[in-house]
Amino acid sequence: MSSLAELQARALKEIREAADLEGLKRVEQVYLGKKGELRQQLGQLSSLPKEERPAFGKAVNDCKLAISEALEERERELQAAELTARLSGEGFDPTEPGQPFETGTLHPISQITEELVDVFQGLGFSWLDGPEVEFEYYNFDALGIPGDHPARESHDTFWLKDGNVLRTHTSPVQIRAMERFGAPLSVIVPGRCFRNETVDASHEHTFYQMEGLMVGRDISVSHLVYTMKTCLREILKRDIEIRLRPGYFPFVEPGFELDVNCPFCGGIGSPDCKNCKVCKQSGWIEMLPCGMVHPDVLRSGGLDPEEWTGFAFGLGLQRLVMVRYGVNDIRDFTGGDLRFLRQFTRV
Ligand code: DAH
Repeated sequence: MSSLAELQARALKEIREAADLEGLKRVEQVYLGKKGELRQQLGQLSSLPKEERPAFGKAVNDCKLAISEALEERERELQAAELTARLSGEGFDPTEPGQPFETGTLHPISQITEELVDVFQGLGFSWLDGPEVEFEYYNFDALGIPGDHPARESHDTFWLKDGNVLRTHTSPVQIRAMERFGAPLSVIVPGRCFRNETVDASHEHTFYQMEGLMVGRDISVSHLVYTMKTCLREILKRDIEIRLRPGYFPFVEPGFELDVNCPFCGGIGSPDCKNCKVCKQSGWIEMLPCGMVHPDVLRSGGLDPEEWTGFAFGLGLQRLVMVRYGVNDIRDFTGGDLRFLRQFTRV
């Protein structure tokens, strides 16, 4: 036993005196290595009388533990000392500016969403979210699109095994909003939607929309026109003209397609319009579908259509960015090409 105590004392002293990490490694080898002193001690175990063996085994173990702990502690000390030495050595100038980090930038879709939210909050709208995995009821039925309705065919839907869907548009949140908050109500719902579409320059299976819904007493088409004009003027950063054409969507009546005068040539009558490839000399480009909320949709949301009216719109966010910046391939948004994304760096 006494030789164990002597061994431990000797080891701890050598550990304390080790001048660098290499020296410390050598001390470790001497005591804890495969042929180290502790192993040799353990080798004596079999030559001891049976009743003494457990106590001796324990003593060897305690000794090993004490040495290990001391090694760890000294290692930390030596590492810290080496670091300090390196930092205070020649060639290190703590006043030099660091290497700049390469920072990312908000995706153009996030940027336009922020801008839209800002404009609409200024008009008194609240910003809502809805689930991306949606009940068939909210995505279709409650919006006047029952199972046999042909409009379902234009929504190439991703059906889940449990009968739910990946939402094909942000319109289901209209119903959720009315159910939850009642009327009067003004909300916008930016969000991600999914359709099982063949991807090409103008179609994506994953895309972004922003739904808008305003319900109140005596809400009319003029509220819709004013709101859309204000919003598009802010986003496209110029004075714009809009026009409404009839459009069909089961959840609005009447429904419209809203066009703006072409931002690239300025619209019909402008000198550039004759050659404009964007509006194809029509002077207009299709911007978004909208309309007056169908009475049945108000009922689905728990509201009395005799008392309440409303307008709704569904803005395609990729499309809006494409129109604003002249992007001609929708796949660029999710293609991950940094050369594309860096063009939207905000300063
Ligand atoms: N949810 C429609 C779609 O994605 C777009 C839409 C049309 C939304 C008319 C509306 C609306 O709110 O009034 O096909």
